[in-house]
Amino acid sequence: MALPNVNPTTTNAWNKLKVHFEDTKDLHMKDLFAKDPERANKFTITFDDFYVDFSKNRITDETFQYLLELVDDVKLKAAIESQFSGEKINKTEGRAVMHTALRAPKSAVVTVDGKNIIPEIHEVKQKIEGFTNEVVNGARKGFTGKQFTDIVNIGIGGSDLGPAMVVDALQYYKNHLTTHFVSNVDGDHVNEVIKNLNPETTLFVIVSKTFTTQETISNANTLKSWFLKSATGKDIANHFVAVSTNIDTVKNFGIDANNIFPMWDWVGGRFSLWSAVGLSISLAVGYNNYASLLEGAHKMDEHFKTEDFDKNIPVVLALISVWYNNFFKAESEAVIPYSQYLNQFATYLQQGIMESNGKSIDRNGTPVDYETGTLIWGEPGTNSQHAFFQLIHQGTKLIPADFIGFTQSLHGNQDHHDKLISNFLAQTEALLNGKTKEEVIAEGTPETIIPFKVFEGNKPTNTVFIKKLTPESLGKLIAMYEHKIFVQGVIWNIFSYDQFGVELGKQLASKILKEFTGNTKNEHDNSTSNLLNYYKENS
Ligand code: F6P
Repeated sequence: MALPNVNPTTTNAWNKLKVHFEDTKDLHMKDLFAKDPERANKFTITFDDFYVDFSKNRITDETFQYLLELVDDVKLKAAIESQFSGEKINKTEGRAVMHTALRAPKSAVVTVDGKNIIPEIHEVKQKIEGFTNEVVNGARKGFTGKQFTDIVNIGIGGSDLGPAMVVDALQYYKNHLTTHFVSNVDGDHVNEVIKNLNPETTLFVIVSKTFTTQETISNANTLKSWFLKSATGKDIANHFVAVSTNIDTVKNFGIDANNIFPMWDWVGGRFSLWSAVGLSISLAVGYNNYASLLEGAHKMDEHFKTEDFDKNIPVVLALISVWYNNFFKAESEAVIPYSQYLNQFATYLQQGIMESNGKSIDRNGTPVDYETGTLIWGEPGTNSQHAFFQLIHQGTKLIPADFIGFTQSLHGNQDHHDKLISNFLAQTEALLNGKTKEEVIAEGTPETIIPFKVFEGNKPTNTVFIKKLTPESLGKLIAMYEHKIFVQGVIWNIFSYDQFGVELGKQLASKILKEFTGNTKNEHDNSTSNLLNYYKENS
């Protein structure tokens, strides 16, 4: 069974939304709030430790109703069932999409190609647990008998961004091990990391689903050569482990079969931190915390799978985003976490959102004539307030934003936390209400300055308030965005789980590389030829 295949623009709901947009596009949220004292309560969803207020959006009861009709018209319910039941919904690659199975309990049954995949998932989890414990408690030692102090995760894209973001986000829960991430093929990246390493006490985790990715293999080889300056070939078995689907190539690299953590083709790179790709997370925060992260994601999966769509957080967030993307023609969305721990969160989401839904061909193989994937960007507040918020408040572009905050701080400094959260609340209030000319005049502003101090307001935000940043709540938050991505892909009738768009640049890079290292000469446009020559003359 494939995913339903419905062009959203041909649905009744879409046509209703088009007319409705013309009728309501100039409404000010301030007036909507003034008219309806129940607005905030009506447009808030609570789930476990999540409080999601989506009332500060340019929507009315009717908008919400039509958006909910849209997911019915595109058969979202059937699409969710197809994904969770192991059907090959990644049709262009002929694969199932089963990251949700990675966080399902042992008792679950999920069938891919007629086989229940849950037992092998739990076997790998057990291996992760055993390995983590041995490294953390010092039972597993380096080639000179010393305990490990440093972990280097070597990977890129989904094999780097997820683990790197989560390790950073959960640093409060970290143990004594220092975790490093090497991703870029830029040799200066790996060499800067090497400066801080001792080969005797460093464990290398090579993460590559394919084990053919140029960046990862280059970095792994550089680190292996560096390691072998102090150790011998047989020591690789103690110091290098790999996470991959490509077992033979991993063995050829010299890694011991016992040190290979398998993954499966039904886990997409950008959804893979729940698999053994998360090994560095488990090493950094301990297996129990890693398991809680997965448990949190599973809770969000259950919410997504079972909750009615009008109370379903990922569905509602996806619909609101479609409303701005396809009707208001907003091009980007900001994600602003009010937590320094979530410093890498927007960067992480960029791959998930833009690699998944940056597509322009629909599920019939036909070019779409409507907008698809949004641009996603952001930085933590309050830092971002002092950087790009000016444009959100007073620029010409409409930038819907998700504000993510925690009611409790981890270190418990209440004074700082009150200041942080007062900013968090103040910004969404300011974006909603703006400041009128009358208010500016009442402040005694000189005549000539008045227009510059007026804020139009009516800038949409979602507020995701969570009790505390824990492994479990982080798991829920990540899964919330994963499901939002899926819902949007279903609405836009595109395949969210392939990424052919990253191939062309890779192919050309390998051709150009041969021009540097051999005698090959390729045809290029004038600009590329000049740049290539300039590099050869100056490198
Ligand atoms: O950027 C393309 C991509 O295929 C991503 O989807 C993936 O996460 C990344 O490269 C790394 O791939 P691999 O894990 O196979 O090294």
